[in-house]
Amino acid sequence: MLNKSIKARSRKPSTLAIHGLSRTPKAYYSVSTPIVQTSNYYFDSTTEVFEFMKAKSNGRVVREHEYGRYGNPTQQECERKLAAIEGAERAILFSTGMSAVILTLLAYMRRDGHIIFTSDCYRQTRDFATNTLAEFGIQVSLVDPTAEAIAKAIQPNTNIIFTESPTNPYLRVLDIPAIVKVAKRHNVLTFIDATLATPYNIKPLEMGVDIVIHSATKYLGGHNDLLAGVALGNHDLLNKLNRTQRMIGAIPDPFTCFLLERGLKTFALRMEHHNNTAMAVARMLEAHPKIEKVWYPGLKSHPDHKIAKQQMRGSGSVITFLVRGGDKETRTFIDSLEIFLITPSLGGSESLVTQMAMMSFFDYPEDYRHAIGMVDNLVRIALGLEDVEDLIADLKQALAKI
Ligand SMILES: Cc1ncc(COP(=O)(O)O)c(C=O)c1O
Repeated sequence: MLNKSIKARSRKPSTLAIHGLSRTPKAYYSVSTPIVQTSNYYFDSTTEVFEFMKAKSNGRVVREHEYGRYGNPTQQECERKLAAIEGAERAILFSTGMSAVILTLLAYMRRDGHIIFTSDCYRQTRDFATNTLAEFGIQVSLVDPTAEAIAKAIQPNTNIIFTESPTNPYLRVLDIPAIVKVAKRHNVLTFIDATLATPYNIKPLEMGVDIVIHSATKYLGGHNDLLAGVALGNHDLLNKLNRTQRMIGAIPDPFTCFLLERGLKTFALRMEHHNNTAMAVARMLEAHPKIEKVWYPGLKSHPDHKIAKQQMRGSGSVITFLVRGGDKETRTFIDSLEIFLITPSLGGSESLVTQMAMMSFFDYPEDYRHAIGMVDNLVRIALGLEDVEDLIADLKQALAKI
């Protein structure tokens, strides 16, 4: 069996996204990864079962697969490439980004422990922190998305710091080395949901973070056609998460893994396009008289622009802004867009638009919604892969309708 090692450490993201760190043998010498659509894997004899079990109990691997919930070759190939792109020893795939977030927290949280989250974060992560974890008696603090606020919130029982970077939707970029420094001093684990950055734009593991999480539904899949999540880190630390995953089995099916791996082949190209397009659109919006304020880490006006410049290759394709006016003007603008689709999510080939208060936070009481910044004229766009001139023209014509 061939296992040709390419000089992987010096390879760039576009090469790693296609080949991973090495060439793995494939059935029938197929160039694309076969979809191994099976729920279980047979043994030829009871002797083979015995040898398999004996080796497993001694921590050795004589063959990889046994039962679908514990892994699948298509999934494994995808995990191998994701780990290579991230520069991680190991990747564990999940059925959604949220199952990656929640199971990672469940695997490492401690009874009587305390977890720090940032106040600006994906709505379901916020709900899990403030509702579910609280019900289990886990202490939770939601703090400003800055390293200083996180440092201040550390308690003797803190064992996890969980942040996004950039955060959703205000795109706050955290000073990751500063957070890691505080965390190491207090023996606290650091988890970063870097969905909005991707490993193309940020490398949290290189900055000392323990586990990186992505919703692979977004840029990694890249085509608005699958749901998946991934957690990445070093081998020993991820053993515990792997045990939790094997029990619960929130895994993507083989076809989803095939689609995700297929999407990865254009990952670097797509991210370069996203970064460039969004920079041009953010500049246009910032200069536009119908726009009150823009949040995009690549703009000098963003509160974390300096940190973003130090830590990120580019800022991704999500832009958040306030339309001048209120609910009426915002809805007129959104309804006038011709290319953008009104839907949540981000990172795919189609450009998307969301009025945050209406789409993601509708069921929150209005006062609370406003207090956390989800005002009626707050819009988040996620640029796709369309031509930048067409996107700018579409935004301009819709703003002219207000
Ligand atoms: C930052 C972030 N994390 C996690 C998720 C959840 O991902 P999924 O929808 O794949 O569960 C999202 C979804 O939008 C997100 O934006």
